Amino acid sequence: MTGAQGPPVGGRWFEAVAAHAGRAYLRYSFTRGTEQEVDFLVDALGLGPGSRVADVGCGPGRHAHALAARGVEVVGVDIAERFVELAVAEAGPVGAAGARFVRADARALPVAPASFDAAVSLCQGGFGLMGGVDGDAAVLGQMATTVRPGGAVAVTAFSAYFQVRWLGEGDDFDAGAGVNHERAPVRDETGTEETFDLWTSVFTPRELRLLARAAGLEVEHVWSVRPGEFDRRPPDLDHEEYLLVARRPGGSMTGR
Ligand SMILES: C[S@@+](CC[C@H](N)C(=O)[O-])C[C@H]1O[C@@H](n2cnc3c(N)ncnc32)[C@H](O)[C@@H]1O
Repeated sequence: MTGAQGPPVGGRWFEAVAAHAGRAYLRYSFTRGTEQEVDFLVDALGLGPGSRVADVGCGPGRHAHALAARGVEVVGVDIAERFVELAVAEAGPVGAAGARFVRADARALPVAPASFDAAVSLCQGGFGLMGGVDGDAAVLGQMATTVRPGGAVAVTAFSAYFQVRWLGEGDDFDAGAGVNHERAPVRDETGTEETFDLWTSVFTPRELRLLARAAGLEVEHVWSVRPGEFDRRPPDLDHEEYLLVARRPGGSMTGR
């Protein structure tokens, strides 16, 4: 488990996965908890009708659409053309559903600085797919710049502790980089399987705190979560992900 083959830097390797999976991505069980996750985030981040949220690495837009259904104005950003197409198709005419989508790199968000009440990156929406050490910091830095003073930044990240505790046979874990590599079958919309290389960076709560601080954010919480089970749970070794909630200093907390 030496992780001899490092990940391509920048997360763009996911585009091939998205192009193959298409709509079938939404059949994975980890995508089923969207409503619970969004209810939790609306409460934890103090969002409401009229709040503006950037969904970074939005995929087919499941969180963006659910936020828009709650009256939040969302801009979803994703590098994968296929996922952006799906997100737009679901949103209907531009703006009608309160969510619009842009194809762009999370390391260079095409939005005005300080123009959002919150920025989220969920289920490794770019953050955690970058490989190396600079990419994830760049994503968090962009998210920090995107929110207004007092605005919130929330990212989920795979737990390093959980990953190492439950290393599987097919896992090739690079301890130096904190990146797990696996080859996994991915189904397309017709059920046809293709095997892809997947690289996922893993984090300790401390690393998340340090990254947030380096991005100029004040950390409010690091909670242990799993898809569909977001909760105010102290960091532990038993859950797959951590949810970091941080704020840009200054300003007021609510975006309503
Ligand atoms: C596991 S999916 C998560 C999607 C969505 N947030 C969700 O919860 O379903 C990871 C997403 O990150 C996107 N991504 C990867 N690298 C990216 C980059 N450099 N810039 C923007 N998005 C990126 C992928 O295209 C993919 O849609």
